[in-house]
Amino acid sequence: MTINKEIIAELRTQFGDAFYLLDSERFINNFKELRNAFRRYYPNSNIAYSYKTNYAFPFCKIVNELGGYAEVVSEMELEIALRIGVNPERIIWNGPIKNPIILEKFLLAGGTDNIDNKEELEIVRKIACQHPGKTINIGIRVNYEVGDGVISRFGFDIETDEFKDVLHFVTATPNVHFKNFQCHFAKRQIQYWPARTQGMLDLIDGLDIVPERIDIGGGLFGKMEDSLKAQFSCEIPDYDAYAEVSAKLFAEYFQNKDKKPELLIEPGSAIVGDCMKFVGTVMSIKNVRGKWFASVLASQKNISMSGVNPPLVVININPEEKKYENLDFVGFTCIEGDVLYHGYSGPLAVGDVIVISNCGSYSIVMKPPFILPNFPILDISSDTVNIVKRAESFDDILHTYNF
Ligand SMILES: Cc1ncc(COP(=O)(O)O)c(C=O)c1O
Repeated sequence: MTINKEIIAELRTQFGDAFYLLDSERFINNFKELRNAFRRYYPNSNIAYSYKTNYAFPFCKIVNELGGYAEVVSEMELEIALRIGVNPERIIWNGPIKNPIILEKFLLAGGTDNIDNKEELEIVRKIACQHPGKTINIGIRVNYEVGDGVISRFGFDIETDEFKDVLHFVTATPNVHFKNFQCHFAKRQIQYWPARTQGMLDLIDGLDIVPERIDIGGGLFGKMEDSLKAQFSCEIPDYDAYAEVSAKLFAEYFQNKDKKPELLIEPGSAIVGDCMKFVGTVMSIKNVRGKWFASVLASQKNISMSGVNPPLVVININPEEKKYENLDFVGFTCIEGDVLYHGYSGPLAVGDVIVISNCGSYSIVMKPPFILPNFPILDISSDTVNIVKRAESFDDILHTYNF
């Protein structure tokens, strides 16, 4: 469905003055394009989709249908994957804190746990000990210098005795199947990618161990409009650029080796960022000491974007428009800084709609129940409207309180 004045007006009568639009077709294309970019260099590459970035069910289902993995970091995200019907063998559980009882069930069902710290190692050791007849799948989250100026708190520092202990456990325990090393570094700039890749290759080379998989994490930029790219101080690489500095190194390293482990990446933002838009209605326009403000049923909390002007299109619905200069679109919250867009110049009227793109990453998953419950999510990528998530009601938010 094309987003135009008529469609938006029709959706508004059915779903209210604000909603998200989810584009599952675009997500399918992004997933395939990114995986193919890596597979072109190293055929045994795959994607473990980061649920935390956006666990709207259509995205998670698509990943499963396309043969990707679910990358989860909590019991809740694990529950989502299981409800969607993901086979535990296709689920990778990362993260620093895991519920031991649920972890045990997960491991017995064939899931992979990437151990983050020595306390978790003891929990896993106990599980392995209690089920000697059952082989469990374990990986290790590793942490090494990539020159990004961050001392990451996640995983085992590979220079430590703790790392030696966990490595010994996963390689020498009869009922533990050592599945993979995994890492993740948050900075998306391409200059840190060769170091993260080379770090993994140096690690396995030094240890003379080739696990079944090597997982080099997420932290890639996705596709975005030029207006958004221009607001970053760094270059925004495309999928192929990331593949070239990682999958290509893998291909070269494993070229003459018999065992070619599966190379995993864990993107979230890179494939989902441009797959959601937010639509909000202009409710009032005012002038305060010479400055124009348009209040919109929307907020930074809905789109998790601040400090930039997101890609924005105004759809003029009310014919009584006037021309404004240097107008700020501001949100429904009572936060002074809740500015969705600074300095719009153009026609506008109350009742018009703004459509903000690139809202797929850390948006709905980070929306707090602040001032208003969240708005519905609609998938209009085919000819029909699919309600992915209905509007949250007051009761959805309030029913956990003990009145
Ligand atoms: C372990 C892990 N993998 C993958 C991701 C996804 O990151 P991004 O959305 O930046 O690709 C994150 C994000 O924090 C993460 O912690």
